Amino acid sequence: MAESMQGLHRSHRCAEVTTEMAGARVTLMGWVQKARNKGGIVFVDLRDRSGIIQLIFENGTIDPEGFEKAGKLRSEFVIAVTGTVEKRQGAVNKNLATGEIEIRAESLRILSEADVPPFPIEENSKTKDEVRLKYRYLDLRRPDLQRNLMLRSKVAMLTRQFFEKEGFLEIETPILTKSTPEGARDYLVPSRVHPGEFYGLPQSPQILKQLLMCSGYDRYIQIAKCFRDEDLRADRQPEFTQIDMELSFVDVDDVIDVNERYLAFLFKEVMDIEVPLPIQRMSWQEAMDRFGSDKPDLRFGMELKNVSDLVKDCGFGVFTTALENGGSVRGINVSGQGSMPRKKIDKLVEFAKGYGAKGLAYIALSEDGKVKSSFAKFMSEEEMQSLIQGMDGKPGDLLLFAADKNKVVYDVLGALRVELAKQLELFDKDEFKFVWITEFPLLEWSEEENRYTAMHHPFTMLMEEDLPLLDTEPGKVRAKAYDIVLNGNEIGGGSVRIHQNDIQEKMFEALGFTKEAAYEQFGFLLNAFKYGVPPHAGLAYGLDRLVMLMAKADSIREVIAFPKVKDASCLMTETPGPVSEAQLEELGLQIKPKQEN
Ligand code: AMO
Ligand code: AMP
Repeated sequence: MAESMQGLHRSHRCAEVTTEMAGARVTLMGWVQKARNKGGIVFVDLRDRSGIIQLIFENGTIDPEGFEKAGKLRSEFVIAVTGTVEKRQGAVNKNLATGEIEIRAESLRILSEADVPPFPIEENSKTKDEVRLKYRYLDLRRPDLQRNLMLRSKVAMLTRQFFEKEGFLEIETPILTKSTPEGARDYLVPSRVHPGEFYGLPQSPQILKQLLMCSGYDRYIQIAKCFRDEDLRADRQPEFTQIDMELSFVDVDDVIDVNERYLAFLFKEVMDIEVPLPIQRMSWQEAMDRFGSDKPDLRFGMELKNVSDLVKDCGFGVFTTALENGGSVRGINVSGQGSMPRKKIDKLVEFAKGYGAKGLAYIALSEDGKVKSSFAKFMSEEEMQSLIQGMDGKPGDLLLFAADKNKVVYDVLGALRVELAKQLELFDKDEFKFVWITEFPLLEWSEEENRYTAMHHPFTMLMEEDLPLLDTEPGKVRAKAYDIVLNGNEIGGGSVRIHQNDIQEKMFEALGFTKEAAYEQFGFLLNAFKYGVPPHAGLAYGLDRLVMLMAKADSIREVIAFPKVKDASCLMTETPGPVSEAQLEELGLQIKPKQEN
């Protein structure tokens, strides 16, 4: 039978008991990791979120009733033990922080019994994700997840501490609000009071924080829940958390300055890592040209090379056609991989096709200088040699080329570069390399919508010197936008906002919005600007991504207590789920019957 806490107080967590405390009496509570009954003596590993400690129940040191209870202990029973700290008589366990001590129990209460869990509660579990997530409350008992969530809590706490010192105010913005433009689909919540009308859950507090600037709260911060209905990946959840901020009377450098100091503070406090300041800055164009990505991983080289000039007159149609169509031919040098088996190269070609490539051309250089290539027959010997030279090809290297529109070439080679670095273990997992990506294009052309769309959002300010281009070559206008990238992950992004009416109108024009449409969607912001608006700028981090990288986890799911799976459902609560007819009725909603296909 489960006993109560009456008259009992926990004195320590398991791992808080130290060798220096030998002789002291302590009361510990937690879960049985493991119980071994050796006849006259029962050994138990007791676990709580601090760690594990060994308990000894010996007939005679504990009353007979207590000893009998100890014999019944099974994994995951919840118990309370009072006893004395002793230096271990048996072998010291070097794997435990408390490996030199044990607790000789004097009394035991079983606070709760436990069924056999569906998987063992231990570090580095091999259990399938679906099972882990269905029993997330058990999964969360595992030490690695507990460490991750404790780390997350620490990051949130230090974040508040840092920004409070810098004069930021924490202000909450509503969850039931109007849709905000960050480029994903909105989650909608039907209104009971206004049948047929909906709230939008915020994709970010973007507009609301800009309104707070209009209201004079010149430095705002919030650890904010955001909602985006988009395809999920390892670094994307439908519901995630931002460290969101906005500052008044600032320009790019001011935002970057306070955030660099924040990152340095955080990494020092949490991981004892020095982040050298200032953090390197790179323009978007340079990042694309050198790394094929706006979130380059700078821990390794293998940079892209533009070889368009070298191949423009060659006989290989794949290359020349791409150039004639306004594209480019670029390559990467996978150093030392010239003897990669054909099968493995074919796999890389398939990988490249997944990123939109029509193919992947290669030159494999053997150690003795022989050239093997998928397009040798289309090139003269001299053309081949000059291409190899242009790529700094040495004996033993593998050269990979993509020819297409720039966007495809960047995507393909950018992804290949990262994939190969993973396969070949080209980077140090313990290294943290930050970079600011700046001067993003303001607009990008959408084939789907046949118009320009905002790369960031429609309130992003452009670089003043590019203003004249807005009418003539809108695709060339650069934004005062910046992303902070860590080891190939976009951990945050932001921009200076437009606060001038005339520029905002021009921007809407470039985006193909009529004035009416703009007012319909963002009227409350545009109206607010009429009553005095300070120049302002801001930034938001993905807290989940930041903590994921600090925890060296592979997915943000590992740092979120109750995450969702790929189809945006929660396996534990089985949401989303149907609701009752009565609820639908109340909301004035009717569900269309499912289309059979
Ligand atoms: P942005 O859309 O770039 O900017 O988002 C900021 C950061 O939030 C994280 N993030 C996500 N994390 C997990 N799951 C997701 N689905 C997801 N989507 C985004 C990323 C990203 O860098 N309002 C602007 C910020 C600003 O301009 O101040 C915004 O939301 O790490
Ligand atoms: P093909 O003439 O289509 O057989 O292609 C010859 C070689 O060029 C093969 O190795 C293809 O994988 C490669 N290839 C085809 N299209 C492209 C492209 N757009 N960029 C780079 N290589 C390509």
